[in-house]
Order: sequence, then structure tokens, then C-alpha cells
Amino acid sequence: MNEEQRLASQQVKQPKPEKDYSSYFERVVTAAPSLKDAKKRGKEEVKYHKDFAIDEEFLGMGQGRKFYIRTYGCQMNEHDSEVMAGIFTQLGYEPTHLIEEADVVLLNTCAIRENAENKVFGELGFLVKYKRKNPEMLIGVCGCMSQEESVVNKILTTYQHVDMVFGTHNIHRLPHILKEAYMSKEMVIEVWSKEGDVIESLPKQRNGAIKAWVNIMYGCDKFCTYCIVPYTRGKERSRRPDEIIQEVRDLAAQGYQEIMLLGQNVNAYGKDFADIEYRLGDLMDELRKIDIPRIRFTTSHPRDFDDHLIEVLAKKGNLVEHIHLPVQSGSNDILKIMARKYTREHFLDLVRKIKAAIPDVALTTDIIVGYPNETEEQFQETIDLYREVGFETAFTYIYSPREGTPAAKMQDNVPLEVKKERLQRLNAVVEEFSSAALKKYEGEIVEVLVEGSSKKRDDVLAGYTRRNKLVNFAGPQELVGQIVKVKILEAKSYSLRGEFVEIVNRHEVEV
Ligand code: 5AD
Ligand code: SF4
Repeated sequence: MNEEQRLASQQVKQPKPEKDYSSYFERVVTAAPSLKDAKKRGKEEVKYHKDFAIDEEFLGMGQGRKFYIRTYGCQMNEHDSEVMAGIFTQLGYEPTHLIEEADVVLLNTCAIRENAENKVFGELGFLVKYKRKNPEMLIGVCGCMSQEESVVNKILTTYQHVDMVFGTHNIHRLPHILKEAYMSKEMVIEVWSKEGDVIESLPKQRNGAIKAWVNIMYGCDKFCTYCIVPYTRGKERSRRPDEIIQEVRDLAAQGYQEIMLLGQNVNAYGKDFADIEYRLGDLMDELRKIDIPRIRFTTSHPRDFDDHLIEVLAKKGNLVEHIHLPVQSGSNDILKIMARKYTREHFLDLVRKIKAAIPDVALTTDIIVGYPNETEEQFQETIDLYREVGFETAFTYIYSPREGTPAAKMQDNVPLEVKKERLQRLNAVVEEFSSAALKKYEGEIVEVLVEGSSKKRDDVLAGYTRRNKLVNFAGPQELVGQIVKVKILEAKSYSLRGEFVEIVNRHEVEV
């Protein structure tokens, strides 16, 4: 049996979920989600809107009102929340950290695994009591979960205190959606299942003044068989280089010290440009010339990670020596069923190239255990690969079936207990490697970007090294926002403890 036949044999035909929008009757539905439509690629052209502006009719809508946003999931979602906070602020709303004070509560949700969704449903249940106390409060659900038909149906039937549901492509429509919700008092649903546009000049209310997120591309076309993201975030579309470079320059001028470039699959950056040949390596080569101490990016896909990018990252300067490179599995059979489009050998070869060019690189990864029908041998191959690469740490997950994805239709013969036990065994290896990686720093002097006080004590400062290691040390608050040298005294389980040496002078950027 070849791989395709095997894959097919693992798929069990399931009855198609019936699309029943009758319950939408009397609701304000401008668009309802459809996973089927969200799967389409290439039919619609990406529109590039350069001049987002809030219509005058909406200005002042938030006067005397407060908003509260709770964000779940990845950094892309965190950044979307910053955009929504920017829109709220332009409308005249003020932020609050207290739900009871809020006039609008938004849950910016994540659909990547079932437990992420359960947290949101739990929170929605919890919000009923606030709504009873203050019936004028608007409650909204946005983010990846609102792109799923089943979630929207569940909200319609079970969580009728929700006032608005809007999708990841509808963020810029927030002023319209709010107005509609104030006027109609019925649940407003606006979820476009389109391939997606690129919208520039959106306002942003950033969460901090030291590190900033910058989107470089949106969406994902990889369609790994377990992943819901290509359905919830639309097709791959890149922002133009000049827009990104300008945004990073502006952030540098405002005093930001570190930029995290964001995309679901940043190595596909530029693939969609019809008029220029310009990829992530080219972008990084320009960004490294900007006078800002650190630039990172997330998240990478091994398949599109090209030699030019490695060459550019090896120039270092403000490009840090940390690469997050999700491998997902060390077994060729599983990688094939996951449709990752690379082999174990390809991955190891890529790691060899990266290490040869950047010998002090810190590699971290994501791994899924308990994929449908994963055997003990296939799991062992993942453990062996982990050891061979020597990842410094990893995010590890038990596979979670996502409705609408090909893997959700596969029959699975691995009991949950076995999956849990595999996760524990993998985590033991991850811990072994992460403590060994930390131990190496004892006695060394490292550069730390000081972000604030440690969670436990005000007089202990905390920050990260270029290779993303958390460091705590005693020092005055004036050091917050600066890059300092710290001598490492002790490696703890998940962090380093050190003593302050000196402030690093204005970063020398190699050009
Ligand atoms: N089940 C478990 N983990 C998943 N991830 C993505 N989809 C799933 C799923 N259905 C993990 C992958 C990815 C990370 C962001 O989340 O490891 O890299
Ligand atoms: Fe999901 Fe794969 Fe795209 Fe990552 S590359 S977002 S895992 S489909």
C-alpha cells in the first residue's frame, strides 16, 4: 500500500455536518462562517487596502464608555487585540482591566486545540452574571473560533447573552459591528469566510513600550492535516516590504528595543508577490540595518526555510540567534500523514546547515504526540530526533481533532492514556535538554533586555537573552527597557539567576 492509499484507508467517511441557518432568523447576519468556503484558495484576488480610516459617523461612539478585551492563543491574536484596542481608542472608548466596569467585553478566541475552545465557552458562561447585572453591556466573540460554523451555532443556541460574533477578516469592521449591536439588540454575526485582504494603517494600542509585534504576513496555505489555521486565517498574503520596514523604523524611533515579526508561516513571506522576487531573507537583510537592538520572527516552517535566509541570519547584528522551528514529529510516516511536506532527513539537513552557519544558535520546536495511529516506534523516532537536534526547549501537545480538517476524519487506534504517557515521556526529555541548556550559562556573561520586575519580587528584575533565556537579577527599576550585561550565577529549572554587570552601550549594528 502506498502512502496515499494508506492515508485514504485511515479516513472514515463521516456524515457532513448539516448547515442549518434557520436559527439565524431574526438575527442580524451579514455573513455567516463556512469552513468549506474558507478552504478555497486562489479564486479571489487579495485586495490591498492602504488607507484604513474610521468613518466620521462613528467617532465619539465610545464617549464615556469602557472596553475590555481578553485574548486567548498565539501572538497573532495578541497583536489583533492591540489593533482592536486601537480602534476602540479612536472611537473614544477607554480601556479597563475590570469586566464589571466594561461597557463592551470582547473574547478574542483561539481554535487550535479543543481545550483552548473549552476555556472560551467556560468564560462565556461566566459572563452571564455580568450581563444580568448590566444588561447594557455588549459581549462579543471574535478570533479564530468565530470562523467555525459549529461554534457560531453553539453560541446561537447556548450563549444567547452574546451580542456580537465577528471573524478574523472583520476586525476593521468593528465600528460598524458595534453600531449594529447598539441599534438592534439582536445578536450581530459578521464572519467572512474569504481568503482575506491586507489592510494597512490600522490603529494600534500596543501593550508595552519595550517589545513590539509586527505582522509581515497573514494566513497559511500549508493545510497540515491537523491544523485549523488555514481555515480560520485565510490564504497566505504578505505585507509589502516598504510598509513593514517603515513600521519597524517608526517603532525604533519610538524607543522600542525588540521586534517580533509575525506570520503563521513566515518562511512563505513574499511567495505571493507577482511583481517582485522578494523573500524573508531579503526582508531580514534590510531590517538588520535598522537601528533597533533585536529582531525575532515566528513561526517558521522547515519546508520553506531557504539558504539565503540562513546566510542573512548568520550576519547576526540585531538578528538574534534563536530560531523556533516546529518539527511536529520525527517519523517520516507521521510527517507524511500530517502533510508537512518534508522528511526527517530534510529537517536534519536544514538543522545541520543552520548550525554550520550560526554555531551558537538556540533551536526550539513544537511537537504533537499521539497523532492518529502513531505507533510506539514512530513516537521513539520523535524522541531520537529531539536528542539528535538538541532542541533547547519545546512546546509539546497531544493531538486534538479539529472539525473540518482531514485528520479529524481519520480513525485513531491510540488510546488517550497512551497519548498522555507519551507526552510525559517526551516532556521528561524536553526538561533534560532545557536544564542542560541553562546549565551551560553558569559563569557566563549574557546580554539581557530588561522587561520589568520578576513575578515574585519587585526588587528582582527580569528579562530575556538574545537566545530567549529568562534571567532574573537584582537591580534598580531604571534598568527596565535597557539592555544590560548580567553574570550568570545559577541555572534554575526554567530560568537563570545572575548579577548585574553593566549597561550595554547603544547597540552596534553591523551593516
Ligand atoms: N492538535 C494539537 N496540536 C496542534 N497544533 C496545531 N494544531 C494542533 C492540533 N490539532 C500545534 C502545532 C503547532 C502549534 C502552534 O500548535 O504543534 O505548531
Ligand atoms: Fe497550521 Fe501547518 Fe499552517 Fe502551521 S504551517 S499554521 S501547523 S497549517
